[in-house]
Amino acid sequence: MSESTAEKLVELAKRRGYFFPSAGAYGGVAGFYTFGPQGAALKQNVEDAWRERFAVREGHQEIDAPTVMPEPVFEASGHLDGFDDMLVECADCGESHRADHLIEDNTAIEEAESIAIEEVEDLIDEHQLVCPSCGADLSGEPVDDFNLMFGTNIGPGDSSPGYLRPETAQGIFVEFPLLKEYARNQLPFGVTQIGKAYRNEISPRKSVIRTREFTQAELELFVDPEENDPDLSRVEDVEVRLYPIGEQEDEDGELIETTIGEAVDDGTLASPWIAYYLGVAQEWYERVGVDADRFRFRQHLAGERAHYASDCWDAEAELDEDWIELAGFAYRGDYDLSKHAEHSDEDFTIFKQYDEPVTVERATVDPDMSYLGPEFGGQAQAVADALADLAEEDRSAFEGEDVTVDVDGEEYTVPVEKTDFSVDEVTESGEHITPHVVEPSFGVDRLLYTILDHAYAEDEVGGEERTYLSLDAEVAPTTVGVFPLMDKEGLGERARDLAAELRAAGLSVNYDDSGAIGRRYRRQDEIGTPFCVTVDYETLEDGTVTVRERDSTEQLRVPVDDLDETLTALSEGDLAFADVDGEPVEEE
Ligand code: GAP
Repeated sequence: MSESTAEKLVELAKRRGYFFPSAGAYGGVAGFYTFGPQGAALKQNVEDAWRERFAVREGHQEIDAPTVMPEPVFEASGHLDGFDDMLVECADCGESHRADHLIEDNTAIEEAESIAIEEVEDLIDEHQLVCPSCGADLSGEPVDDFNLMFGTNIGPGDSSPGYLRPETAQGIFVEFPLLKEYARNQLPFGVTQIGKAYRNEISPRKSVIRTREFTQAELELFVDPEENDPDLSRVEDVEVRLYPIGEQEDEDGELIETTIGEAVDDGTLASPWIAYYLGVAQEWYERVGVDADRFRFRQHLAGERAHYASDCWDAEAELDEDWIELAGFAYRGDYDLSKHAEHSDEDFTIFKQYDEPVTVERATVDPDMSYLGPEFGGQAQAVADALADLAEEDRSAFEGEDVTVDVDGEEYTVPVEKTDFSVDEVTESGEHITPHVVEPSFGVDRLLYTILDHAYAEDEVGGEERTYLSLDAEVAPTTVGVFPLMDKEGLGERARDLAAELRAAGLSVNYDDSGAIGRRYRRQDEIGTPFCVTVDYETLEDGTVTVRERDSTEQLRVPVDDLDETLTALSEGDLAFADVDGEPVEEE
């Protein structure tokens, strides 16, 4: 059987310093990867490109919050109760597996995450699924919810439990009371964060695609749902491939090739904000090297949506005939801010000023506590609060002699005269609203893998097989390889000087003088370096060098004087290699 791209890529990634399982000296531990020198540089370049597009160009602010947060944050966010995956344990070997993945891998079902636990148990029985580790029958094994958060103790003892954040988003939501001040209380405003997130995945797999520690780049956009709309004209012509719920549920369903404008007009994209970000994301993914023919946006099925989302679309990339989620675009409504308001003493609203002050009738109560206290004891304040809520919601409840409220399932009856109920006219200049949240949430590690996979290419050069990564110059770890033909007779010195000059001009340079020139080209090809420059005897005579383009392997003789400008223009896409002013050189 021939090697898959995944196998070749994982081997190349380790050999050339892109990524490899971490702590190998101690046997490693599943789900943790180290990005080597090339990988770390690629990651940095991709994060910079994300920052440029989703923070700087959109006018948003970036923050950097802690990765450990106290338990109450996750009680409020819902992660403590609802951030679970389905686990089935093999009774024979004790290995744990993700039950939904077993179903996806062994049946025709594509999205098992949205299926109820009981049905998953039935499917395991029906398809007689076996343990992937030891082959034992899993029929009849119970499927349980497993919470994915890593817990820890903050400080000595266990009185202050904390968790490693499972998404960077919570670090933004909990700081909303201050962040809104920095945004001068004006909606819409966006806050971004790039950082590590942690999930105790049941079965990490596919190298950096499903790990236990990974990097997210998230944008939380706070909007007034009644007033703020995106400028869709900026993305209406962007071509996308959509896979909405209807097509997924239809046996003959297929990808819809459309534009953002058309998809909004025909209702496929119901949220204008999600439509906007899908358009921006499509262009950005293509810019950093994702192949548009192996990329789509898929709408979440109802049961698949996270506990906070009312609509969600995933960006997905095709890798070895599998679709992998790269990012999620969720409409989170007011879920997060309302929950943090409920669980904390802070104000998670924004005061929305009216154009003109308005006069409205307000129903209020001012209960007689000297009556409520003796009558209801410890529940007196709760009864008073319930009366205030009821006055706002239903004035008619105060029309009789008595009014009844419900506190924790128990009814309390109070004479209306003891509530001091009144309806007054008040003039208001605005109101407090809880903003809604639109969230584009990108995984960086999966994107790096996809960029490498989609850039992976093989061809033949000079009768020899060649492997190269056709990386875009904006993200390639190294922009230029600089070689002396040999490290003697001043060639090495001249090449080292040239490398220093190019570095000073802001280019990322790899100097290499070991082995034959052909081998040096292959090394740079394998790490995806777009250009190589060779210093030879002619350089010392006439001040020219050979510049070689990676994908075409074409070479040109160009003057060394303005080489930094030529290479900068080439790497920034302002100049095509075919338009470089130089003498063609015979190929390798
Ligand atoms: N704040 C929303 C959120 O966290 P998510 O869909 O759970 O949404 C966003 O995660 C992205 O993070 C995913 O699209 C994926 O790219 C990445 N991601 C999630 N779990 C991951 C894992 N175990 N390993 C690598 N990347 C992961």
